[in-house]
Amino acid sequence: MPYMSETVTPLEALTGSLRDYRDLHGADLLARVEHFFRWQDLRRQHHVWPYSRATEEAPNTVCAAQADTGERFAGVNFGSQDYLSLASHPAIKEAAKAAVDEYGVHSAGSAAFIGNTKYSLALERSIADFLGMEHAVLYPTGWAAGFGVIKALVRPDDHVVMDGLCHSCLQEGAAAATRNVHLHGHLNIASARRHLARIRARDAENAILVVSESLFSMDSDTPDIAALQDLCREFRATLLIDCAHDLGNLGEDGRGHIGLQHMIGLVDIVMGSFSKTFASNGGFVACNSPAVREYLKYYSAPQTFSNALSPVQAAIVLKAFDIVKSAEGRALRADLMGNITYLRTKLQEAGFEVIGEPSAIVPVMMREEGLARMVASRLPQLGVVANLVEYPAVAKGSARFRFQVMAKHNKANVDDVVVRLRSAYDEAQQAFRPYGKLIAPASAALGAIIGA
Ligand SMILES: Cc1ncc(COP(=O)(O)O)c(C=O)c1O
Repeated sequence: MPYMSETVTPLEALTGSLRDYRDLHGADLLARVEHFFRWQDLRRQHHVWPYSRATEEAPNTVCAAQADTGERFAGVNFGSQDYLSLASHPAIKEAAKAAVDEYGVHSAGSAAFIGNTKYSLALERSIADFLGMEHAVLYPTGWAAGFGVIKALVRPDDHVVMDGLCHSCLQEGAAAATRNVHLHGHLNIASARRHLARIRARDAENAILVVSESLFSMDSDTPDIAALQDLCREFRATLLIDCAHDLGNLGEDGRGHIGLQHMIGLVDIVMGSFSKTFASNGGFVACNSPAVREYLKYYSAPQTFSNALSPVQAAIVLKAFDIVKSAEGRALRADLMGNITYLRTKLQEAGFEVIGEPSAIVPVMMREEGLARMVASRLPQLGVVANLVEYPAVAKGSARFRFQVMAKHNKANVDDVVVRLRSAYDEAQQAFRPYGKLIAPASAALGAIIGA
């Protein structure tokens, strides 16, 4: 079966978004999701649904995969998040095997009961030390950590002031905790200050949590963390920074933007994920107060009521931290940054718009969703594994490929992906031309598309 559809792609498959099916109406809660399924399946049938793929081998720099239609493809992989290439590192595999031999495969309990292991306790210490914080608490995933820390600490009368582009776990945690959620302009300290001043002018009683990320996962940019922390001091607020994407892999010592901005140990609360750099599911919250640590253990539902990380996961992450802190880790970060810079340069030379700052996330703008879907449908055939991100994960008309770079990528991988993306883009642009006129909101953005 050909990967790409040979029939004409219907307009419906190139328009609409997941957002259209979020607020459902109707008395039958199972039947009403059918509308979404019809739209999704139309996209799937026309090969413009590039989601829910499966790898058929380790997610290395070149990798075989399967679309959710079952079609197989293989190619250079810029879609997996394994920034330091630790997922297949021999020492990590050895650590996992040793943990299995010693402990079996399961922690068999929540951390509140008897789910901790010697590995998880050592890991909490390791994270806290690495971040210059006093304490750390583990969570089953980074998502659970983000959601769980906000929901645990914020009460309905409190306020959350957060960057408008914060990750889903932070937004959902805030929405679950309070109706007083104030989104400030992306990276905009003045906007955050206006919100804080307005809140404090009328509410001196309740608490405020300010939330941001050290590296934004779709835009690859960073806020002024010290300025946010200063604002928090000025307005009696508390700062939470999510460092999921840069911890371990960015900066000479791997301490990410918190380190680069000289804020080690100085941010009120830091949370993160192991799934990008540390070769495992899992997340954490780090803080400086034993009271906060203990409170999270008993009032943060995903920590308290979810089974603890398995001994294998904890041993993997512990070993990953050892590598991150070592000379090898330093060398891997240097290789990673070399790849990032080379990829960004090559993409720009090929005429693509690349946004953000150099990091393991390289956003390549396609802008118009329909065109982006057509580009994405061609990439597997050309031997590229890459993730398309579209509205509502990013703003309308700003669809992009989020390339994720690994330390073990090489120049040939980068050269291949850029040439293949250019071919896919050129072909897709031709195919998309007749649709451009039909998609009204897109037509303005079309002019801005590279190569158009
Ligand atoms: C900024 C940010 N925070 C948290 C998470 C959640 O991490 P995990 O994959 O460990 O659940 C992600 C993952 O996509 C993320 O991008």
